Amino acid sequence: PRVAVVVVAAGSGTRLGAGAPKAFVGLDEHTILRHALRGVFAGPRAQVVVVAPDGREGDALTDVLEAAGARRDLASVVTGGATRQGSVAAGLAAVWPDVDVVLVHDAARALVPPEVFARVVDAVEEGLPGVVPVLPVIDTIKRIEGNAVQAAVDRSQLAAAQTPQGFRRDILDTAYAVADEEFTDDAALVAAAGHPVYVVDGDPLGFKITTPADLERARSLVHPVAP
Ligand code: CTP
Ligand code: MG
Repeated sequence: PRVAVVVVAAGSGTRLGAGAPKAFVGLDEHTILRHALRGVFAGPRAQVVVVAPDGREGDALTDVLEAAGARRDLASVVTGGATRQGSVAAGLAAVWPDVDVVLVHDAARALVPPEVFARVVDAVEEGLPGVVPVLPVIDTIKRIEGNAVQAAVDRSQLAAAQTPQGFRRDILDTAYAVADEEFTDDAALVAAAGHPVYVVDGDPLGFKITTPADLERARSLVHPVAP
C-alpha cells in the first residue's frame, strides 16, 4: 500500500491508573487497542504498525490478528520507547519503502470512526504536507496570569487537535530526523521543521481516553446501559 498507519500504544496510562498499560484495559470484552484497531482496519487499505509497550508485544499481536481480518499481512508490532515521540519514531522505522502517506494515531482514541482516517488520507493524497483532525473549542477560554484574567481569547481562532494526524512520508521522516526536543504532537513537530499543517473535521468520538471519567464515557458508548 501507499499508506501506513502507526498506532502508538506503548504508554503506561499513569493518569488512567487502571493497573495495566492503557492499551490493554478493557472497554467491553475487547481492549482499548482492539477497539482502536477496528477503526483503523475499517479505514483505507494501509500498512498498520502497532507500537507496543516493552514486554507486551504478544498481547498487541493478539489484538492485531483479531482486528485485521483479511488485512493481517499488512500488520506488524514493534516495541515502543520512553516517550510518545520515541514510540512514533520506532513505528516510523518499520514503515515499508513504498509508502508515501503516513498517519500517526493514538490507540487511546479508541472510538475514532473509519471516515476520519479516510478524510485525513484524502487530504494528504490531494497534496497537503500535514493534516490534523480538529473539533471546535466549546468552552470559553481565558488567558490568565496567576489568578488574573488577562484577555478574552477568540474561540474562532482555536481548535482542539485529535488523531489520526497524516503527513507526506518524506516530510514526517525528515521532521523526526531533525527533531531535537519533545513536541506535544506530530503536527507541532512537523510545523517546527517548517512545513504548513492544515485541518480537517475531527469527530466527537475521537476523544482520548486519559482519565477514569474518559474510560467510563468510552465504556458507555461501547456498551450503552438500557434505560
Ligand atoms: N504512547 C506511546 N509511548 C509512550 C507514551 C505514550 O506509545 N512512551 C502512546 C499511548 O499509548 C497513547 C498515546 O501515545 O495511545 C497518547 O498518550 P497518552 O494518552 O499520554 O497515554 P499514556 O502516556 O499511556 O498515559 P499517561 O500520560 O497518563 O501515562
Ligand atoms: Mg502520556
